[in-house]
Amino acid sequence: MDYLQIEGIKSLNGTIKISGAKNASLPLIAMTILAKNAVHIKNLPDVADIKTLLKLLSNLGAKCDFHDDKVIVETSSLNHTKATYDIVKTMRASILVLGPILTRFGHCEVSLPGGCAIGQRPIDLHLKALEQMGAEINIQAGYVEAKAPNGLKGCEIIFDKITVTGTANIIMAAALAHGKTTITNAAREPEVVQLCEVLNDSGINIDGIGTAILTIHGTAGKLVDIKEFSIIPDRIEAGTYLCAGAITRSELTLTNVNTHHLCAVIAKLEEMGSRFSITQNSITIHPSKKIKPTKVITQEYPAFPTDMQAQFMALATQADGTSIIEERLFENRFMHVSELQRMGADISLNGNVATVNGKTKLSGTDVMATDLRASSALVLAALVANGVTDIHRIYHLDRGYDSLEKKLQNVGAKIKRLKE
Ligand code: EPZ
Repeated sequence: MDYLQIEGIKSLNGTIKISGAKNASLPLIAMTILAKNAVHIKNLPDVADIKTLLKLLSNLGAKCDFHDDKVIVETSSLNHTKATYDIVKTMRASILVLGPILTRFGHCEVSLPGGCAIGQRPIDLHLKALEQMGAEINIQAGYVEAKAPNGLKGCEIIFDKITVTGTANIIMAAALAHGKTTITNAAREPEVVQLCEVLNDSGINIDGIGTAILTIHGTAGKLVDIKEFSIIPDRIEAGTYLCAGAITRSELTLTNVNTHHLCAVIAKLEEMGSRFSITQNSITIHPSKKIKPTKVITQEYPAFPTDMQAQFMALATQADGTSIIEERLFENRFMHVSELQRMGADISLNGNVATVNGKTKLSGTDVMATDLRASSALVLAALVANGVTDIHRIYHLDRGYDSLEKKLQNVGAKIKRLKE
């Protein structure tokens, strides 16, 4: 297994190009199941989760031709409808094939994803919505078995909780359903918006794009001709590198970024003392000498994203004063705390609220990544720690960050990937 070795440095300097968004790519790849044509997708990030989903589609019979940041997905040859445990267990977002396969073929079996490090992460809202659309759902031997031999029927769906992949699943299910589906309390994340825009551009009439109430007019089983598209920039990758600039008090420029998707993160960094120069598709952080403490509450988009919580916790260890971080979406998304404490951070937990006392001197040591965003928090802490930090189990990091060590090396970080 690989590990990252990082030597604490003074500062970084230069430009980082942001890759395509992992969390936009996954539903958009699943969406190709709705297409009658070969779908051309550009600006895909080179991360493990994308390769996992393409492998899943290939196992089902689709043809996936993935080169550089482009893929052509042809699903006319798709002839299986069972997503097996061996793949689903490695990536819970595999559940995104349930809606499209069911609405196209009338039956689908997907292994239950199971929980993960950050929490239970049930899929009850996905399944309840599909049942409302007329699917017969059975759960047995660890698999969801869904049937809708006469296709799905459009209806009124009200999500009890906002669910990003739940919204994406039902949008795709509704796309080929009979009649109109309205989703109330829909997720408004930019990744969901792009899924709606691509489908809308391909002839699926969707109203309310970007709002919490979506109306999808289904084609009654007719496949769609999906035009070529490019994945939006990854706002969480961009936010992570802005935190790298802030924590090392470096001036960093990010290109290929959509700053409209980062409003809550930029506002929070400004509160902590950073200033920004923003152009059409770039942002430069001008960090302050001192980092001010802050209060973070994670909520659904457009509020502060839970996927940036761990990174801000690392940053808060370097703030002059006490910061409060409240995690409202996942019940166990503080796995990075114990690793940061081992580096010398002064953090105490009370349920879903973390109190971070800064400024603390961090020391390099061996630490272990536990989940994707926790891994990036450890990288940020290591950049400013005294001495050398070895971050183990970085297969978590490789799921969602494209060429992280190369991007950081190019701006002066002393970071290398080694073999255990
Ligand atoms: C998506 O996960 C993202 N993953 C996550 O990013 C992100 O943290 C999360 O949304 C929240 O923004 C992808 O897009 C692939 P949810 P998702 O359904 O869709 C509860 C990363 O780091 N819930 O919006 O699985 C759930 O337990 C990853 O890139 C139910 O109770 O999250 C959670 O508390 C980590 N029942 C809340 O809703 C359901 O059926 C939000 O979950 C579904 C969800």
